[in-house]
Amino acid sequence: MPQTVTLGDKSFRLYISEEQILAAIKQIADKINQDFHGKCPLIVPVLNGSFMFASDLMKQLTCQCQITFIKASSYKGTESTGQLTALIGINEDISGRDVIILEDIIDTGHTLAKIIPSIRDLKPASVRVATLLFKPKALKTDITIDYTGIEIPNEFIVGYGLDYDGLGRNLKEIYQVIELV
Ligand code: IMP
Ligand code: MG
Repeated sequence: MPQTVTLGDKSFRLYISEEQILAAIKQIADKINQDFHGKCPLIVPVLNGSFMFASDLMKQLTCQCQITFIKASSYKGTESTGQLTALIGINEDISGRDVIILEDIIDTGHTLAKIIPSIRDLKPASVRVATLLFKPKALKTDITIDYTGIEIPNEFIVGYGLDYDGLGRNLKEIYQVIELV
């Protein structure tokens, strides 16, 4: 695996290996499998960033489950704008369902703070949140995270579904931006 990658005008160094990512996902899956044994949760990944996480997590679930996607975007470059620019909603009946929202990363939490109430309006039986990555120091909203993979400092990362201006989503590992001083 490469130790550094260049995407657009920025360079990034290897930060989290594929093995570490998959181990974190396995831990989340184990907990979901315990909590939803005998149930059939509806997995709701937030596109675009969470497509790889969703795919690898689904492969580890042993309970019956279904999946439907929503789409949101609040990032421009390496900064969260705090404003959700696009949202493809759920157009099926999820009333009475156990929903698990999947995020690639929770940063300010603004995205989820908007998504969670709009999902609750559809009257699911329960709503839980699973995130592969979490930046606790960046959190600016009051949201409950039920399953967390890896906590990281407040630095910009790419890879494994996460992008820098649309680039880097294809990387198997996660890379951290190299700040030039
Ligand atoms: P939030 O609304 O600030 O919590 O940001 C959530 C979304 O911003 C995530 O789902 C990501 O798509 C994106 N994001 C947050 N931090 C990063 C990062 O370090 N790299 C790439 N995307 C990020
Ligand atoms: Mg995202």
